[in-house]
Amino acid sequence: MKELRLAGISKSFGGTDVLRDISLTISRGSFLALLGPSGCGKTTLLRIVAGLETPGAGELSLDDTVLYGPGISVTPETRGFGMVFQSYAVWPHMTVRENVAYPLKIRRLAKQERRERVARALELVHLDGLEDRFPHQLSGGQQQRVALARGIVMEPPVLLLDEPLSNLDARLRAQMRRELRDLHRALGITILYVTHDQREAFEMATRIAIINEGRIEQDGTPEEIRSRPADGFVKEFLSEH
Ligand SMILES: Nc1ncnc2c1ncn2[C@@H]1O[C@H](COP(=O)(O)OP(=O)(O)OP(=O)(O)O)[C@@H](O)[C@H]1O
Ligand SMILES: [Mg+2]
Repeated sequence: MKELRLAGISKSFGGTDVLRDISLTISRGSFLALLGPSGCGKTTLLRIVAGLETPGAGELSLDDTVLYGPGISVTPETRGFGMVFQSYAVWPHMTVRENVAYPLKIRRLAKQERRERVARALELVHLDGLEDRFPHQLSGGQQQRVALARGIVMEPPVLLLDEPLSNLDARLRAQMRRELRDLHRALGITILYVTHDQREAFEMATRIAIINEGRIEQDGTPEEIRSRPADGFVKEFLSEH
């Protein structure tokens, strides 16, 4: 369980500002939803936190360790965050077990330890019993859970989730919202969750940051945002969905 701090993060692509001066603290064990419309910069910010993208300016730290700052850029592997991508990106040629075990294998964990951790992660996402199937033998929702199990198997200090329920039907989404909330409580990890779906943010998160055109419009608890939306954009965005 760690505290993640973003200070003055900016990013532009080809002269276009995509993120503007983003400062956010995601306190230990909290579940922060980054909520905003398509194209507002959510995935870019998550990739910067993961270390897959370099910010143009700003600092990023985890407790007392600077991950990105003047002269410092910690690699994604060393950051060791769990990540579930917007497209679930499970490997088609690997079974469920192999997909989930992969992060442990590249970190050279012993076989017994690997087996135990994979079993625990699969149990948490209710995929036990499907270990030997390949992705094409699974439903979309099950594949999504494989990606989730792969994200949590290292029991990472921070879990980054990018619209992990976007491809599921309404019923499965509702079920997964409950499961993710339970998972957060069970593991007590710090979660940064990207979504454009306000229902997901309000049902699961302990804090919500509303982002628009690369800027944080409001950051607060779900209750604070509901009862005191900061400005016209937040009000309008919340009423539209
Ligand atoms: N590698 C890149 N090169 C150029 N422009 C990019 C790149 N990555 C993202 N962008 C642009 O940056 C903006 C923010 O993209 P980003 O993927 O962060 O949005 P998002 O909030 O995740 O959107 P969505 O909800 O649709 O996934 C978009 O206008 C996008 O076209
Ligand atoms: Mg995105």
